[in-house]
Amino acid sequence: MEKFRIYSYLSLVFIWRGYVYAANRTDAAALKTILLTGYDTSIRPYYDKRLNISVGFFVFSIQDLDEKSGTLTCVGGPYFNWDDPRLTWNPTDYGDLTSITFSTSQIWYPELYLLNPASKMEPIGDSSFFLRSNANGTVWRYLSSIIKTSCDVDMTYFPFDTQICRIKLTAWGYNDDELYLTPAQSSIDMTYYGENAQWRVVGSTIEKFSVKGYDGMVSAVLSLKR
Ligand SMILES: *[C@@H]1O[C@H](CO)[C@@H](O)[C@H](O)[C@H]1NC(C)=O
Ligand SMILES: *[C@@H]1O[C@H](CO)[C@@H](O)[C@H](O)[C@H]1NC(C)=O
Ligand SMILES: *[C@@H]1O[C@H](CO)[C@@H](O)[C@H](O)[C@H]1NC(C)=O
Repeated sequence: MEKFRIYSYLSLVFIWRGYVYAANRTDAAALKTILLTGYDTSIRPYYDKRLNISVGFFVFSIQDLDEKSGTLTCVGGPYFNWDDPRLTWNPTDYGDLTSITFSTSQIWYPELYLLNPASKMEPIGDSSFFLRSNANGTVWRYLSSIIKTSCDVDMTYFPFDTQICRIKLTAWGYNDDELYLTPAQSSIDMTYYGENAQWRVVGSTIEKFSVKGYDGMVSAVLSLKR
């Protein structure tokens, strides 16, 4: 009797979900086949125009701010989106499917690098972070990593000091005519933040910055109070 009730409850849920989300595996597979046929992962979208990438940033935790080496270590990462017109479809043709995920081997995507890394320069995150495309061609990437950046610490007001640390992001290797980063938000997303015993985040911004005429870059700025 108990089992029967559970089964009938489950089938109700499935019927209801099936009704609301009509898309099934067959729809998803057909859509992917169509989108990826002839898709060249080495060609960026809008090859003849600059591609704008809208960048936000999450911080999950501050691990350490080392005064001596001037190094900030935090856990977090950028989330960003761009448009790829090759990845658009009409949801009603695919059971109302409005978004689909891809692995990094399937579609083009940009890598972001730290411009002020505290150790070797390498792409943030790795290929295990998948991609998501909306039916209108907007593609999303969410990354997370241990981020180590250089941050000059000013000890003048120790121990009542507030330090400003910048996490500078760049699509290294591309010029402004190819890829251009812009802030997606005015501040860092702290939704999942866990407090640090020594440092309190008292403010943050996400802003544009430029170096020697290259200005398609974005930095996530943290104000940390001891
Ligand atoms: C990116 O932004 C610039 C300036 O707003 C614009 O001229 C360009 O067309 C945009 N690129 C695309 C692919 O929309
Ligand atoms: C999936 O949905 C389509 C309609 O969107 C339908 O034609 C097809 O039979 C369904 N396939 C399965 C395996 O349920
Ligand atoms: C596509 O849809 C998403 C989600 O609704 C939206 O954030 C994005 O701005 C849209 N992109 C375009 C090019 O309209």
